[in-house]
Amino acid sequence: MANKKSFEKLESLRKEANQGGGEKRIKSQHDKGKLTARERLELLFDNGIFEEIGQLVTHQSTLFGLDKKRFLGDGVITGFGKVDGRLIYAYAQDFTILGGSLAEAHAKKICRIMDLALQNGVPIIGLNDSGGARIQEGVVSLGGYADIFFRNTKASGVIPQLSLILGPCAGGAVYSPALTDFVGMVEGSSYMFVTGPNVVKTVTHEDVSSEDLGGAQTHAVKSGVTHFSYKDEPSAIIGFKKLLSYLPQNCEDPVSLLDYDSINEIRPELNRIIPSSSEKSYDIRDVIFGIVDSDSFFEVHKDFAENMVVGFSRIAGRSIGVIANQPLHLAGVLDNHASRKGARFVRFCDAFNIPLLVLEDVPGFLPGTDQEWNGIISNGAKLLYAFSEATVPRITVITRKAYGGAYDVMNSKHIGADMNYAWPSAEIAVMGSKGAAEIIFKNEISNSKDPQSTWLDKEKEYALEFANPYKAASRGFVDEVIEPSATRIKLIKAFDILENKVIDSPKRKHGNIPL
Ligand code: HXC
Repeated sequence: MANKKSFEKLESLRKEANQGGGEKRIKSQHDKGKLTARERLELLFDNGIFEEIGQLVTHQSTLFGLDKKRFLGDGVITGFGKVDGRLIYAYAQDFTILGGSLAEAHAKKICRIMDLALQNGVPIIGLNDSGGARIQEGVVSLGGYADIFFRNTKASGVIPQLSLILGPCAGGAVYSPALTDFVGMVEGSSYMFVTGPNVVKTVTHEDVSSEDLGGAQTHAVKSGVTHFSYKDEPSAIIGFKKLLSYLPQNCEDPVSLLDYDSINEIRPELNRIIPSSSEKSYDIRDVIFGIVDSDSFFEVHKDFAENMVVGFSRIAGRSIGVIANQPLHLAGVLDNHASRKGARFVRFCDAFNIPLLVLEDVPGFLPGTDQEWNGIISNGAKLLYAFSEATVPRITVITRKAYGGAYDVMNSKHIGADMNYAWPSAEIAVMGSKGAAEIIFKNEISNSKDPQSTWLDKEKEYALEFANPYKAASRGFVDEVIEPSATRIKLIKAFDILENKVIDSPKRKHGNIPL
C-alpha cells in the first residue's frame, strides 16, 4: 500500500514537471511560433526518447516572490538520449517557466550535464530560450553563467558543442553559445545581442528593432555570429542532426567513415567548369559537387563572407572539411570576414581530426582602407596560423588563381599541406600578369613608341612564364598537375594514404594565434 502511494506521488511529480509553466504559457509559446522545450527535445532525439536528469530540482531563493512559485526543473530540462543511434547530451531552456531565466539551480543543472558530456566524451547541444540572468536571484545568476562559460571553454576542442537559439538570448547570456562550436538561429523568433534596442537608443541614439540588431539574418549575414539561419524550429533541429552526422563524438574518436563501394570515379563534368577567360567567374560549389560524394556537401556559414565557401562533406564515405575560395563573389578574394570564417572552420576540423580539402582560386587579399583599418593583417594571419598549426591530413587543389600572399596562406606545401594538386588552368605567381608587367617593365613600356601594345606584349610574356602550374610543379610546390576529371580519384587515394598521419608538435602550453 505504501508502495502504491509512493508511486502515485512520483506520478504526480512527473506530471507537474512535464506541464512546464502550464497550459496558458504553453499556448503563448505556440502563439509565438515556438515549440516548448519538451517538444524540441522530442524532435531532437530518436523516437522522442530522452532520459531526464534533475527533473525535481527547484530554486532555493525566497526573494521577490520566488517563495510563492517553485517549478520542478527550474526552467531547464537536462539529460541525454540518442540521435541517429549516437549518445548526445542536451539541455533545453523552458521559457514558460520564469521566462527560462537562469539562476543557481538552473545553471547547476546545465553544468552537471556539461560535466557528464565532457567526462564521457559525448557531444552536447544547448537549446537556448531564456530571458537571461534571473533578476530575483541576483549575483548567483551571474555566477551561474560564468560556471557555464568556464565549462564551455574547458570542453572546447574536446567534445563538439552546439547551440540552437530558439528565443531571446541577450546580455552576457550570448557568450555561452559564442564559446561553442556552432550556433544556429531561427528567423523571426530568436535574437542575440549584448545590449538590446533600448540601451542602444540611449547610448548611441540609433533606432533599431530586435530583429535588425540581433535577429537570425543579421547574425548569419553581417556578424557571422550564427553559422546557420533556419526558417523554423523543426528545420533547425533537423539541420543540427545532420551537422552531427559529420562530427566525431570527441577529439579522440576517429572521423566518421561510411561504407563506400568504389565505382567509376572519373568526373568529366569537372573539365568543363573553368571559363576560357581567367577574368570570368564560376561557382566553386560546382567543383565541390563534382568532387565529393553525391548530396554530401553541408555548407557552414553560407550567408557570411560568401567569397569563401566552407562546409563538411564526404569523399568515399570519409568525413572531410572543405575550404574553398568562391570566384563568384568578389572574385574569391581573401578579406577580413573570409579569413576569420576560414580560420575558425579549419581549427574546428583540426581539433576533431577531420581532414581538410582546400580548393584554391584566389586573386589575393582585398586592398583598401576598410580592409586595412579593420585588421586584414591580423585576420589574414589567423587563417595562416590555423592552416599552419593543423595536423590533420591537408590537401589542396589549385583550380585557377593562386596569387601573392594568398598562395602561401591557402594551405600551400610551405605551411605543411600534405599533397597539392593543380589543374592545368592554374596560375601561380606573385601577382596577375597585367600588374606584374606594369611594374617590372615600367621603363620599357613608357619608353616604347606604343606603350599600350608593349604592355600587352610584356603581359603575355609574363603570363607565359608564370600563369601556369608548371613552374611550381618543377619546384615540387605542386605534387602533380592533374586533369580536373581525375580530381576525385586522386583525392580518394590521397586521403587514404594520409589516414594514419602523425605530427609531433613542439612542447608548449599553447600557441598564440593572432586573435
Ligand atoms: C526573471 C524573467 C526574466 C528574467 C523574463 N522573465 N525575463 N524573470 N528574470 N531575466 C519572466 C517575466 O517576468 C515573465 O514572468 C515571463 O518571464 C515571461 O516574460 P515576458 O516579459 O512576459 O515575455 P516576453 O514579452 O516574450 O518578453 C521576453 C523578454 C523580456 C524580452 C526576454 O521578458 C525581458 O526583457 N526580460 C528581461 C531581459 C533581461 O534584461 N535579462 C537580463 C539580461 S542581463 P511572468 O511571471 O510575468 O509570466 C543578463 C546578464 C547575464 O542576462 C550576465 C552573464 C555574464
